[in-house]
Amino acid sequence: MSSRTSDVLVVGGGIIGLVTAWRAALRGFSVTVADPEPGRGAARVAAGMLAAVTELHYGEQTLLGLNLASAERYPDFAAELADVTGQDLGYRRCGTLAVALDADDRAHLRDLHALQRRSGLASEWLSGRECRRLEPMLAPGVRGGLRVDGDHQIDPRRLARALLTACERAGVVLHRSWAERLDVVRDRAAGVTAADGTALAAGQVVLAGGSLSGRLAGVPEPVLPPVRPVKGQVVRLTVPERYAPFLSRTVRAVVRGSHVYLVPRENGELVIGATSEELGWDTTVTAGGVYELLRDAHELVPGITELPLTETLAGLRPCSPDNAPLLGPTGLDGLLLATGHHRNGVLLTPVTGDALAHALACGELPDEARPFTPLRFSRSELPV
Ligand code: GLY
Repeated sequence: MSSRTSDVLVVGGGIIGLVTAWRAALRGFSVTVADPEPGRGAARVAAGMLAAVTELHYGEQTLLGLNLASAERYPDFAAELADVTGQDLGYRRCGTLAVALDADDRAHLRDLHALQRRSGLASEWLSGRECRRLEPMLAPGVRGGLRVDGDHQIDPRRLARALLTACERAGVVLHRSWAERLDVVRDRAAGVTAADGTALAAGQVVLAGGSLSGRLAGVPEPVLPPVRPVKGQVVRLTVPERYAPFLSRTVRAVVRGSHVYLVPRENGELVIGATSEELGWDTTVTAGGVYELLRDAHELVPGITELPLTETLAGLRPCSPDNAPLLGPTGLDGLLLATGHHRNGVLLTPVTGDALAHALACGELPDEARPFTPLRFSRSELPV
């Protein structure tokens, strides 16, 4: 059996695993990432909204603090990553417009606006006419909306590609195989055994396996992350040159109780998302899912029916019991988590990389990440 030893072994090469690996390598750690296809994962499906303000939910004010901290870091983070890799990340400071289609939506959006203001967030109420002046493709029935100029977007596929390049340039070793089993030696995480039989020994292990994080064999039951998959189906359209600019910012709404958003990229891609379904590890794209997305998006922006449909895809959000991530040391020495990011993985990428690199170096989380310790879900005390 072959073997390799690193300071840090990261299980999972999605954007969260890669940013952790990159940031850890910049701190001087030798790092290995175990993943058969690094750079894929849920980011391949995600729309890439950086929506700290428009995705604010009641009861999630603690998460809001982390979301805002990450949004604030995005300009420098994106500039550094673009500089290191020479790649365009599709980072677009375009803002977001959340609109209402009927009286109920309008009341809901008014409540959200009040909550945003109480939370000290910048958003502006617009009449239906003002919304259409901003985005002429909006349906005539739009009754009002919230203009949030601070909620931007990035292309998650480009982000993943750039993080992969940054990792390679920083000397991160990519081991292209599943981590099959956590190896625990004398009550301490000591590495993993990969599906190809390689023993990947490490001083510290970061479990960043997205919705699969709770399934790694060998992780003692009390520290297994309580994450579950929440399916999201997404449709991609293309805006031909002659229709540009179709939308100049992200447009979103809640239609019949479901979130729908349209994210226009500079390269002409228009991402419409997303369903939210609790169906285990099923990633089937269904006629019903695509129908609902197109129906709801069509109510907001009727002109989408003219656009070529270029892709349909489903992915799995890793969701924790309180919808917030699990970051940092666990009850098992040497094992850290970076998972459970649910709807905010792309947004939380910069702050997660920083928090995990800090935790790997100092043994504890930085202040802004402390509320997200996995220990908040500890079910019983070790020893295991
Ligand atoms: N953040 C958007 C989604 O998860 O659908």
